[in-house]
Amino acid sequence: MAKTNTTFFCQNCGTQYAKWLGQCKSCNEWNTIAEEIILKEEKRNWKQTSETKKANKALKINEISIDKEDRISTNNNEFNRVLGGGLVKGSMLLLGGEPGIGKSTLLLQIALKIPKKVLYVSGEESQSQIKMRAERLQITNTNCLILTETNTQNIFKIIEDVNPDVVVIDSIQTLHTEYIEASPGSISQIRETTSELIKFAKETATPVLLIGHITKDGAIAGPKILEHMVDVVLQFEGDRNHTYRILRANKNRFGSTAELGIYEMQNIGLREVENPSEILISQKEDDLSGTAIAATLEGMRPLMIEVQALVSTAVYGTPQRSSTGYDIKRLNMLLAVLEKRAGFRLGAKDVFLNIAGGIKVDDPAIDLAVISAILSSNEDVAIPQDFCFAAEIGLAGEIRPVNRVEQRILEAEKLGFTKIFISKFNKISKINHNIKIIKVTKVEDIFSNLFA
Ligand code: TYD
Ligand code: MG
Repeated sequence: MAKTNTTFFCQNCGTQYAKWLGQCKSCNEWNTIAEEIILKEEKRNWKQTSETKKANKALKINEISIDKEDRISTNNNEFNRVLGGGLVKGSMLLLGGEPGIGKSTLLLQIALKIPKKVLYVSGEESQSQIKMRAERLQITNTNCLILTETNTQNIFKIIEDVNPDVVVIDSIQTLHTEYIEASPGSISQIRETTSELIKFAKETATPVLLIGHITKDGAIAGPKILEHMVDVVLQFEGDRNHTYRILRANKNRFGSTAELGIYEMQNIGLREVENPSEILISQKEDDLSGTAIAATLEGMRPLMIEVQALVSTAVYGTPQRSSTGYDIKRLNMLLAVLEKRAGFRLGAKDVFLNIAGGIKVDDPAIDLAVISAILSSNEDVAIPQDFCFAAEIGLAGEIRPVNRVEQRILEAEKLGFTKIFISKFNKISKINHNIKIIKVTKVEDIFSNLFA
C-alpha cells in the first residue's frame, strides 16, 4: 500500500523542510514555503525492468574504453556550434528563456530538420497548434511525431511504442509523474520528472531536449538542482521587440560554453545568422554624431557592434542616465572617469546609451567605443564610419588591453574598417595589416585623435 507523505519545499530555491516556516532559511525569501504531497512507491523507473540492473564495477582509468562521442548533427549550424558539434547520445539538454522569445519555435524547427525520428511532446500547445506552427516554418517532414501529454508514465508508454531517436519536451514545468501528488510545476514534480527523464536518456542513449520556463529574475524556474542534473543548459535571449536572438550555453558537459549562436526571428521561423557583424551595424548614408563601432567578442565569435549615445543638457536638477544593452553601473563609472580624469564636464548632462540591434553586451572591450560615442555626441562631431574600437577603460582613465585582439583586428579588417583604436599595451605579432592600428594609452588620447 502506498504511503502518503508531505514535505515542505521552498518554491524559490527548492530547499526541503519538515515543517512550514514563514521565511526560507536558505534563500531568505518570505512566504515561499509550500506543502507538497508526496506519494512514495517502490518502483518509479521509466521502465520497471531496468530495476534489476547490476551494480557497477570500479575500473582503472586506463582500462576504461571510450567509444568516440556519438553526436547527432541537428542540421542547424548555429545550434551545433553551441552544443560543440551536435547532440550527444543520452544527453539531457535544458533550454531556458523568456516567454515568447522563441523556444518552442527553435526546438520544433530542429525537430523537423533533424534527419532522425523525433518525438515532440508538448504540454502547452495542442497538436493542431503545433501543426500550424510547422506550416508556418515551411518544413516538410514525415519523421516527426507530435504528442500532447503531460503524464510522464504515459509519455514513456508512447516512447516504448514508437522508439524515437530524439525526444523533445515542451515544457518541463507542465509534466507530472503519478508517483508524486504535487501539482505540475512544483519543485518536487520538476525534480522527479527530470530524474525519470534522465534515467530514460542514459539507459537508452536517447538525447532529451527540455524547454524550461524562467522566473522574473531570469533564472530557470524550479530548483537549482535542475541545472545540476542536466548535461547542457542553454539560454535563449534577445529583446522581444527586436528580431535578433542569441543562444548561449551556460553549462555544457560536452563542449565549450564560450560559443554562441545567433538567429533572426522572421515570419517563417528562425533564420541562422552566419555573418552577424554585417547586420548589427545600422545602415546610414551620412556620418552621424554619437555612434561608434566596437570590435567585441561574443564567446569565440568576433562581432562588430554599434554603440549609440545621446548627450544633452539636463532638464532637471539630477541628470538622467539610461542604458539599453549595457550595464548602467559601468556607464556611470565611465562618466565619472571622463569627468575626473579628463576634465569633461558631463555632470550637468543627460546621457542615454543604446546598443544597436537589441542585444546585450558584457565584453569590457566595448568601453572605448562607449566613451567615444559619448564624446562624439557631446562634441556633436561624427566619428567616421570606418573607425572602430576595442579596449577596456580603467578607473584611472587608462586604456587597458583586451584579450584576443588579433581576432578583433582581423574581423575589422575583413569588414573594411580603416582604423582600429586599441590599447598601447596590446601585443600584436603580425605587422602587415590592411587596417591602421592606432594605439592609445589614456582617455585624453582618444579625444585628441578624434576631435581635436
Ligand atoms: P514561441 O516559440 O512560442 O516562444 P516561447 O516558446 O519561447 O514562449 O515564439 C513565439 C513568438 O515568435 C511569437 O510571438 C511569434 C513569433 N514567431 C515569428 O515571429 N515567426 C514564426 O515563424 C514563428 C513560428 C513565431
Ligand atoms: Mg513555448
